Amino acid sequence: FVIAVLAIVLGLTLRQKTNTFKTTFIARCERFKGYDCENIWVAFEQAYVGQDACNVPMEAYDHLVTNMGLFKPACNRMMFWSKTKDVVHDFTKKRDCFLTLEDTILGSVLDSLTWCGKEGSSDTFTTGCPEWNYCENNPVRSFWKSASSAFADVACGNVTAMLNGSIPTPFHPASIFGSIEVKRLNSTRTRSLNVVLVTQKNMLTNCTNASLKELEKALDEGIKYNCKEVTESQIQDCSSNEDIPCGACW
Ligand code: APR
Repeated sequence: FVIAVLAIVLGLTLRQKTNTFKTTFIARCERFKGYDCENIWVAFEQAYVGQDACNVPMEAYDHLVTNMGLFKPACNRMMFWSKTKDVVHDFTKKRDCFLTLEDTILGSVLDSLTWCGKEGSSDTFTTGCPEWNYCENNPVRSFWKSASSAFADVACGNVTAMLNGSIPTPFHPASIFGSIEVKRLNSTRTRSLNVVLVTQKNMLTNCTNASLKELEKALDEGIKYNCKEVTESQIQDCSSNEDIPCGACW
């Protein structure tokens, strides 16, 4: 009897987990008008539910990411980033000159969330899921790889990347930006990559950094490369001051 009660309580707790996660998913999704969020949830969930949490490859999200029309090109406004999450999102949330993956519907819904499934279960779990580096094919990491691929595939015109000038190596070939996004920028669609190297007073790195030379080399031939050092406070001024035209931010 005690075991039965415990099993029911545990069952309800897990059910609660799915419901809480789904509630967050749907609520965040509904901030975007004109989408069928229930339909997006079903396409999302089928990628990992009932699967071992280390056995969800990025292809599991193909249906969600490529068939549902959730990534639309925003020429000249696409913003990539690496190791600058807070400053870039503070900027894109306040000004609409640039759009990051996390400002699109899917990126915004799943930003900062953790989820996974379990073999033999139809629930979504939010605890006990593998860490980012625990195994390659975990549901969270595979999702970001898949979404980043789709985001880079629609990049067009002049694209921007905010990189961190306060670390010795602003460009990491193994990061999502380096291993996925840069490789998928295509010269028939993308004219230039403009690096904004975010610096602080104690500037550790500038545009002559060796890792940035690697970035330039990794670009598809025909894509122009530019780099500019911009202080974090200059970006914050632009975030909070609508009167500064986007083109004058840096
Ligand atoms: N543990 C947990 N999360 C991680 C880890 C990690 N070790 N590495 C990356 N992530 C996730 C986190 O959500 C983190 O905020 O990826 C995000 C970005 O990681 P960075 O190393 O800062 O940058 P990068 O790997 O280059 O990814 C950024 O991918 O999100 C897209 O389009 C976006 O251009 C951006 C790029």
